Parts: sequence; structure tokens; C-alpha cells
Amino acid sequence: MADQITIASEPKEAAAGGKPVIRLENVFKTYDLGEIQVQALRGVSVEVRAGEFVAVMGPSGSGKSTVMNILGCLDRPTKGRYFLDGVDVSGMTKTELARIRNRKLGFVFQQFNLLSRTSALENVELPTVYAGVSPEERTRRAMEALTRVGLADRAGHHPSQLSGGQQQRVAIARGLVNRPSILLADEPTGNLDSRTSVEIMDILQTLNNEQGLTIVLVTHEPDIALFAKRTLLFRDGKLKRDSLVEDRQVAHEVLKSLPTAEQQAAEDAEEETQRLAKDDATA
Ligand SMILES: Nc1ncnc2c1ncn2[C@@H]1O[C@H](COP(=O)(O)OP(=O)(O)O)[C@@H](O)[C@H]1O
Ligand SMILES: [Mg+2]
Repeated sequence: MADQITIASEPKEAAAGGKPVIRLENVFKTYDLGEIQVQALRGVSVEVRAGEFVAVMGPSGSGKSTVMNILGCLDRPTKGRYFLDGVDVSGMTKTELARIRNRKLGFVFQQFNLLSRTSALENVELPTVYAGVSPEERTRRAMEALTRVGLADRAGHHPSQLSGGQQQRVAIARGLVNRPSILLADEPTGNLDSRTSVEIMDILQTLNNEQGLTIVLVTHEPDIALFAKRTLLFRDGKLKRDSLVEDRQVAHEVLKSLPTAEQQAAEDAEEETQRLAKDDATA
């Protein structure tokens, strides 16, 4: 196939957003394993504008993490170009990429990757150390980020003293602390139960709505993708579909219909009582 550049059709609503912050032009990624070569991405072209909330979907092995690594400047395309905020970063050195990454991008992963012997506050402060921020300013920014995820009152807690959902919120705060223009999240709800997942989506939607934060989120769960505004479907290293989310879910509303952890516990206890009573009756 010719190296012709085709930009995936831009959904109208997305175009109504801000300027393009991400632009991939015919991106290929080949992993060279000596004997064999794995073509993880085979000609991906796409544009994401400021303020968008995009869900990246597709089966395992379709290239989702590879594209996220490129978007996150953790890896470079084998061929093709990547413009981040209008700047071609595809040919940059690792040092240059690291600087851009620290300034413009925030990351959230499935594994929370928090340092266990360190408080929530110190975990959140960590990326500011590399950004050369003064100690007082670090603490101020970290507290601000923790406040944004609703965990200001847990700043002194260690990860083991926090629930899974709270740990992921700390990880989100860490991703926000250098005030990135784009947040990249790879399966952030992969280790969380349904309600906690929606709580995380509530935080992401709030950041997107109120701060205009651009979000690119990988998920294999269709229910989670419904909280985004647009979905990109990958298959065999290619972008197969680019569509707006119809029936977009509002996490804040969905939460009202889901039982809280306490209600769930009470329900479980009630079921257990009934089961024991039934056992007694049949004994
Ligand atoms: N570091 C690597 N070395 C070799 N092959 C890789 C590497 N990372 C990913 N791949 C291969 O590239 C393809 C796409 O992988 P990936 O982007 O991780 O998919 P997804 O995240 O959608 O599951 C797969 O065939 C995978 O085995
Ligand atoms: Mg993956």
C-alpha cells in the first residue's frame, strides 16, 4: 500500500473542541525480535483535539498499549510522524522526549504503581522533583492535586491504608501534579469493582468538563467506554473505527443508582442472615 496519509474522519463534535493536541500521521511500529518482526501498528492516522475524552478500544494484542506508549513519548514510531501540541516529536531523542513527557503528559495505569513506604502526599509529589520545583511549591501542588481527587484528608496515609479506588485516585493526583495538558490512562479501572470504576470515571469526567483536560483512556470494557465522548477501535494494529459515543453516560448520575459500599455490605449481611436461618430450618 502506498504511504499515503489518511486522517481518520473527524467527528463533528470533536472538531468543535480546541486545537489539535495529538496528531498521528501514518504511524507504524514494528518490534524487531531478531528472527521475527511484530507489526504492532500498521499505518495509524488520527487527531485528538484539546478537551476531548477518547476511549481506545480493541481486543488484546490490537496495538492499544503500543499506541499509548507512542502518545506518551515512552516509545517512538518506526515510521510515520507524531505531532504533540503541533511539534513533531517522532524524531526526538530520549532525553528530549523525557522533558516533553514531564511537562505535557500525565499517566495512570492499571497497576497503581505507588511507593508503598511513602505517604499519599509524597507519592503525588514525586513527579515534581524531576520538574525542578521548590519543596514548598511541591507540597502545595501535591495537596492541590489530592484535593482535586477528593483525598486531601488522606494525604498522610500510606497506600496499604487506602482502598484500591483511593490508591488509584492518588495515582491520578500524581498524574496531574505537573499540570499536564493530556492525561493518558491505560486500563485505569482494570483492577477495580464496578462502583469504584464509576467513581474513577466520575473524577475523569469532572477533570475533563471543569478543567478541559484532554483524556485518552484505554479500556476493553464497553461500559467504561460509554463515559468517554469518542471511541477509537483498534484491530490488528489499525484504527478500524472512529466514532462519537451515543448515549454518553454521566458517572455522577450512574453513581446514584449504584449501591454504596455500606449498602452493599448491609445487603450481603442480610443475605447471609437469611441463608443461616434457612440452614437452621432444614437442620
Ligand atoms: N515490547 C514488545 N516486543 C515485542 N512485541 C511486542 C511488544 N509490545 C507489544 N508487542 C506485540 O505487539 C502487538 C500489540 O501489542 P499491544 O500494543 O500490547 O496490544 P494491546 O495493548 O492492544 O493488548 C502484540 O502482538 C504484542 O505481542
Ligand atoms: Mg495493553
